[in-house]
Amino acid sequence: MARIAIVGVGAIGGGLAALLDASGSHEIVLCTRRPLATLIVDTPAGDVRVRARNVSDPALAPAVDWVLVATKAYDAEGTAKWFPALCAKGAPVAVIQNGVEHRERFQQYSSADKLLPVVIDLPTERKAEDRVHIRGRALIKVEDTKLGQSFAALFGAIGSRTDMRVELTDDFTTAMWWKLCFNSVGALNALAMKPAGLLRGEAMGRVTLAMAAESVAVGRAEGARLSDSLPREILEKYRKQPPDSVNSLLADRRAGRRTEWDARNGAIVRKGEKHGIETPLNRIAAALLEAAEDPSL
Ligand SMILES: NC(=O)c1ccc[n+]([C@@H]2O[C@H](COP(=O)([O-])OP(=O)(O)OC[C@H]3O[C@@H](n4cnc5c(N)ncnc54)[C@H](OP(=O)(O)O)[C@@H]3O)[C@@H](O)[C@H]2O)c1
Repeated sequence: MARIAIVGVGAIGGGLAALLDASGSHEIVLCTRRPLATLIVDTPAGDVRVRARNVSDPALAPAVDWVLVATKAYDAEGTAKWFPALCAKGAPVAVIQNGVEHRERFQQYSSADKLLPVVIDLPTERKAEDRVHIRGRALIKVEDTKLGQSFAALFGAIGSRTDMRVELTDDFTTAMWWKLCFNSVGALNALAMKPAGLLRGEAMGRVTLAMAAESVAVGRAEGARLSDSLPREILEKYRKQPPDSVNSLLADRRAGRRTEWDARNGAIVRKGEKHGIETPLNRIAAALLEAAEDPSL
């Protein structure tokens, strides 16, 4: 039994709360910016009313055993305001976000040995403040270290009872970069404001391959083991999606919210510069998405 705080109770945080609730043995603390009376998570196995305590003031948060961060990548500063109270007894922080800069984002707020980057695949949507919909199975990847093992143990036997798996890997760099390469081309949908079917045309297919190839080159320079065929696999994977399927960059842009362009295309540009690798397509995508969000332009 552990006391686990979730900071950021949106699509991923809400989904994780339901998965942890299924263990029946944890004390869950939901840390939100506004009071949350209930949290209902609609899962393939039925609705879960999450049994949890809610805190909406970082100063009143209790000390916990684990902190699970599930805010957007651009919300690191506000997220970290929860750490002094939640981590008062040395709790580690699992950063469950997209991109490859989990550590860079939080290193100024937590010691390096307490930070655990997490890659998650969990098809989930936030339907309302207090309602999250999980459409399919969860796959979570963490480093095979003591901290990673301790995080995986939180989910313990849940995997056998629900549709989820925590995988310990000795090549977390590849896991992060595989996902980032896939996500990088999602910027094309957000720019065109069109769902997955956009990438089915010949011209968009060529751009997708070129953009993914840039991301793969940078990922390899960072030590990820990514094959030559990955850009083609990524394109095929997008083309197999229902043509109306909407990625999170597009969903956020459609809803007028900020998008995670910087943690995705921006990160590829930054890491490319470090290795002297040109990333013109990711650079254009990042610049256009940044400009699109700038109210002064
Ligand atoms: N959704 C997916 O299917 C999916 C899949 C894989 C990975 N991811 C990644 O997971 C991360 C989370 O994404 P998401 O889709 O769950 O985002 P989301 O639905 O927008 O949820 C983010 C939550 O963080 C909350 N938040 C922001 N700042 C906060 C603060 N200072 N204190 C407390 N709560 C705060 C927001 O609260 P407010 O309501 O107050 O804004 C919101 O509830 C992202 O990096 C995303 O790329 C998502």
